[in-house]
Amino acid sequence: MLNGQGVIRHLLGLYASKDPIIGPLLRALPVNATTRQVLGLSRSEQTTYLQALWRHNQKDRTDEATGQLYQTKQLGGLFRRFNQLPCTIATRVKRASLFSGHDPKTSSVLILGDDDMLTVELCRRGFAQVTVADCDTELLATIRRETEGMSVVPTTLAADFRQLPDLGIKADIVVLDPPYTLDGATSFLRLAVNLASPGASLVLMVNKEIMGPAFSDLSQVARSLGLTLKAHHEGFNAYPIGGLSRLIMRLAWWHYMGVPLRLTRRRDVYFYSDCFEFTAP
Ligand SMILES: C[S@@+](CC[C@H](N)C(=O)[O-])C[C@H]1O[C@@H](n2cnc3c(N)ncnc32)[C@H](O)[C@@H]1O
Repeated sequence: MLNGQGVIRHLLGLYASKDPIIGPLLRALPVNATTRQVLGLSRSEQTTYLQALWRHNQKDRTDEATGQLYQTKQLGGLFRRFNQLPCTIATRVKRASLFSGHDPKTSSVLILGDDDMLTVELCRRGFAQVTVADCDTELLATIRRETEGMSVVPTTLAADFRQLPDLGIKADIVVLDPPYTLDGATSFLRLAVNLASPGASLVLMVNKEIMGPAFSDLSQVARSLGLTLKAHHEGFNAYPIGGLSRLIMRLAWWHYMGVPLRLTRRRDVYFYSDCFEFTAP
């Protein structure tokens, strides 16, 4: 008879199964790219990912401000539309502060993918030339609503970045928050470099543990595009996770790392990603 840990191990084993019917059937489930990426990692890579998340979750987050997050459409975090997971307000504020050395009146900013609504914080700070692009038109409408009546408002563009669209802009600051698959992250990065003016700041948010071995391929792509790494902030972005995703995370910590469930029962659980600052060629 299987206990809880046995059930999880069994399900993960089935996902990776070489069985000609069960394996492909499970892998065809429409889970989001991030979940698929985690499931595709080896057991030791999955453990490294969970250990990093657990380490970042030990931080004291009592200073966390409350405020409006984008309401994504999702089912238990497994079926997340457009791979969205909005960050905390404190992260949004910290991210905007990365650009405090830039003149808000003259610096042009391009945000590629913004379920975190960084655009709203930058407009609040008076950045007069912000363009935000995303494939989610409801998100763009929310950003327009949230910035209505501010002294500066953003330009919003609907686009699918996989087609490397020409957005008709060259920006001094480009911020990108791609999916964690090599294909997804590469298309966001290529587009960011295409649309960056010479010497621009390019800021990439990514969870390197989820990417596993594909992260070194992405670093290689960054080098081949002529990007120079200026700074790496580990665990910079925090994303609150609730509902079924929170339960899955607690079960995974318990199963892979032996973290007792009673230790995580009452605590908030966050997902994290790193921030990489580059200079464009
Ligand atoms: C990709 S998500 C962030 C990834 C997330 N941190 C995660 O957990 O995997 C960031 C934004 O990119 C947008 N997005 C996703 N795929 C896109 C695409 N192909 N073209 C344009 N925007 C896209 C989403 O709508 C979202 O608002």
